[in-house]
Amino acid sequence: MNRSRATDALTVKKPVSSDQQGKIAGLAVVVMAAGLGKRMRSKQAKVLHPVAGQAMVLYSVGLGLRVAGGAVAVVVGHQADLVRQVIDRATSGKSGSSPVAIVEQREQLGTGHAVLQSRPVFEVGANGAPSSYLILNGDTPLLQETTVRELLRVHETAGATVTVLTAMLEDASGYGRVVRAKTAERGVLRIVEDRDADAEEQAIREINVGTYVVDGKFLFSALEKLTPSNAQGEYYLTDIIHLASGQGHRVAAVTLGNPDEGLGVNTRRQLAEAELVVRKQIRDRWLDAGVTMVDPASVWIDAAVTIGRDTVLYPNVMLEGATVIGEDCVVRSSTRLTDCVVGNGVEILDHCVFTDTRIEDGAHLGPFTHLRPGVVVRKKAKVGNFVEMKKTDLGEGSKANHLSYLGDAKIGKGVNIGAGTITCNYDGMQKFQTVIGDGVFLGSDTQLVAPVTVGAGAIIAAGTTVTENVPADALVIGRVPQLNRAGWAARRRALQTGTTREPVNVKRKTKSVRLTKKRPKASTGRQVKKRTRG
Ligand code: UD1
Ligand code: CA
Repeated sequence: MNRSRATDALTVKKPVSSDQQGKIAGLAVVVMAAGLGKRMRSKQAKVLHPVAGQAMVLYSVGLGLRVAGGAVAVVVGHQADLVRQVIDRATSGKSGSSPVAIVEQREQLGTGHAVLQSRPVFEVGANGAPSSYLILNGDTPLLQETTVRELLRVHETAGATVTVLTAMLEDASGYGRVVRAKTAERGVLRIVEDRDADAEEQAIREINVGTYVVDGKFLFSALEKLTPSNAQGEYYLTDIIHLASGQGHRVAAVTLGNPDEGLGVNTRRQLAEAELVVRKQIRDRWLDAGVTMVDPASVWIDAAVTIGRDTVLYPNVMLEGATVIGEDCVVRSSTRLTDCVVGNGVEILDHCVFTDTRIEDGAHLGPFTHLRPGVVVRKKAKVGNFVEMKKTDLGEGSKANHLSYLGDAKIGKGVNIGAGTITCNYDGMQKFQTVIGDGVFLGSDTQLVAPVTVGAGAIIAAGTTVTENVPADALVIGRVPQLNRAGWAARRRALQTGTTREPVNVKRKTKSVRLTKKRPKASTGRQVKKRTRG
């Protein structure tokens, strides 16, 4: 479940532009992503762990970007440079600049201290100070945009100073508990962290999800007043709720209908739970969009993948990274595509592994094909079993059906790559190119020692090692001519089993085969052609 790679492309369900509807004017966002996440027991910062192939922090950042009319700040700390890179890569537009401001929290003194670090981002804004802040934990990847919009709506209509998102859990351990007033309104008084809670508070099942809307004037003045007088010696963001309610400000709350959405990932178990939920959300989205899955639960689709209508996915297919699949494709069982672009009407049979590969319309691949980065398979081309390709462009309608390695090659249209063909692209020091023109026929077991060019329409006889450039339309044959010695094998067997009456004679004949037998005349072109076909 926990795979090491995360995609660069951020899943943006709707295209984002600055003037797009849905962004709320005056709303700024702060994402807290500085913690190490000790409970993960990982060398990697928690927010970099991928969920459905996308670093956890990108879920919160993507959500923030979709709703914020004002600035979006991300507070980084542990592995700050890596987190910054992941965010930049996912959010940078054509200009190369990211719409996200990154601020560093050098020491992780708590969530309240983290948010305080973002203050300078909002002081320089040309549009004046934000009217409210949406604050998100970087470790809640299941949170949905509709929920956040509901939280913002309630905050607005209630005229609240702080609005918190809560959830009712069977097992609330580890989370901050929501302490409500005992009056009829049951207003939120404060949040008490698990480690600071007394027995009565421990029994509360309503938890703080870690998603807040805070009034623009209140936030930073409240954060300045925090003290680290708690079990962890940290500045808790959650203490601003007690501050607000104590000052008679309104604190509102929205409780999640589906508590799954509030899952905070602190441990590997929770990471696995989040993965399960996100995977199902993604599958359901593509099922609804017109993709067939024969056994949905076994199909893995990363967050940034897109799939065209009427494409059929068989059991155990994995679509990773920024893979894009067109319409009317078939992907058979146990095939993995990572960062691939697949056209329409492509058939990929079982047990294929493709990485960073482009496949054009109507191509046919597999079973057991391995395509490595930089491969282009043009329209209606065919690549069959036990063919490995790397940095190779296979032309329209060309075929490499069996047992080949094609690396650093440019192959034209309508080319037949015979079974067992190898491009010898590496001399132990450097890699070299092989160029094969349109309509070339390579017989089985051809070796192409690069750099080498085969002109259009040439025929290479089976078993040939091509070491020099081949002119267009030529026949090339480069192999030891064949000798046939009638009866030789039978005589040798007889010699070995001792049943012959003429051992000396056989021995002499054996010698003559090796040393004195004249070579027959060179094979004729007709024979060669016959033997290289198919
Ligand atoms: C926090 C809440 C808790 C809530 C829970 C929900 C506080 C004090 N507690 O607890 O009430 O139930 O989330 O999941 O806020 N971070 C920083 N800098 C820091 C500390 C944390 O940026 O100094 C970031 C982390 O990277 C993480 C987020 O803040 O993304 C939450 O921190 P975490 O340590 O996971 O808080 P919880 O103990 O889960
Ligand atoms: Ca947490």
